Amino acid sequence: MNIKNIMSFLLCITLFVLPELTLATEKDGISQELTTLFRAARKVISVNQGHINKVDLGDKGLSAQAVSEKTLVNYSKTSGKKLDANSLTPAQKAMLAAVQDVMSENQDLINEKGVGFKGFLPAIFARQVANKFNIKMSGKMKIKLTAPKSYVRNRANRPDKWENNIIETMFKKSDYKKGQSFSESTQVKGKNAYRFILPEYYGPSCLNCHGTPKGERDITGGKKEGGVLNELGGAISLIIFD
Ligand code: HEC
Repeated sequence: MNIKNIMSFLLCITLFVLPELTLATEKDGISQELTTLFRAARKVISVNQGHINKVDLGDKGLSAQAVSEKTLVNYSKTSGKKLDANSLTPAQKAMLAAVQDVMSENQDLINEKGVGFKGFLPAIFARQVANKFNIKMSGKMKIKLTAPKSYVRNRANRPDKWENNIIETMFKKSDYKKGQSFSESTQVKGKNAYRFILPEYYGPSCLNCHGTPKGERDITGGKKEGGVLNELGGAISLIIFD
């Protein structure tokens, strides 16, 4: 290579490759933040599951405002970064607004006296929040809680082809680094998009419903999956359209 070739090679990298890489890094950051926020909200529900299931207590103190504040506390605990409520990105705002909408809509259900288990679960909360978030983002971003195909309970949560492929050929491999997200610039229904997916594993509390013996009914009336501790149980998937 002569000097001219080298110069044009470097110019190409600077003009075409670096901006793409920078964009990808930026989108990875946005995805990490948003999925962390989503999980932080769901954690409020899982930590309070016993409280929500109380028979004799009316008001559970889990108003829209309270849950969104607890979400931000959980977020800063896991990420080590504080989100300033006054300088949120549109997507972060949409996520918190979705959390608040879902909590407002479920107040009567979770505050009802005389009922123990009310069917208000982390995964159900997460699905409702995701649906609201997706509407608020009007097609620019989409979030979803999904799972390995063989473990999906609610058909609405089925993995699509791309998600299924990552789950089966990467996340399920024994040498895949635990908790490591995967992302790729690709197309969704003919539109350019950045896709991000984060694996999740069964912890001890999950196994009451998703554990063994397989097929036995859990408290929700659903059939247990036969899952074991630390096994891949789900994934959070995010699409950012160009
Ligand atoms: C009280 C029972 C119960 C517990 C405990 C529970 N789940 Fe679930 N899970 C369910 C039900 C019921 C659904 C279906 C929700 C719906 O209709 O969207 C579900 C759905 C899911 C989904 C979405 C995919 C699907 O199957 O539709 C994932 C992922 C998931 N659970 C993971 C977990 C993890 C991880 C934990 C522990 C942190 C956990 N669950 C704890 C009952 C439970």
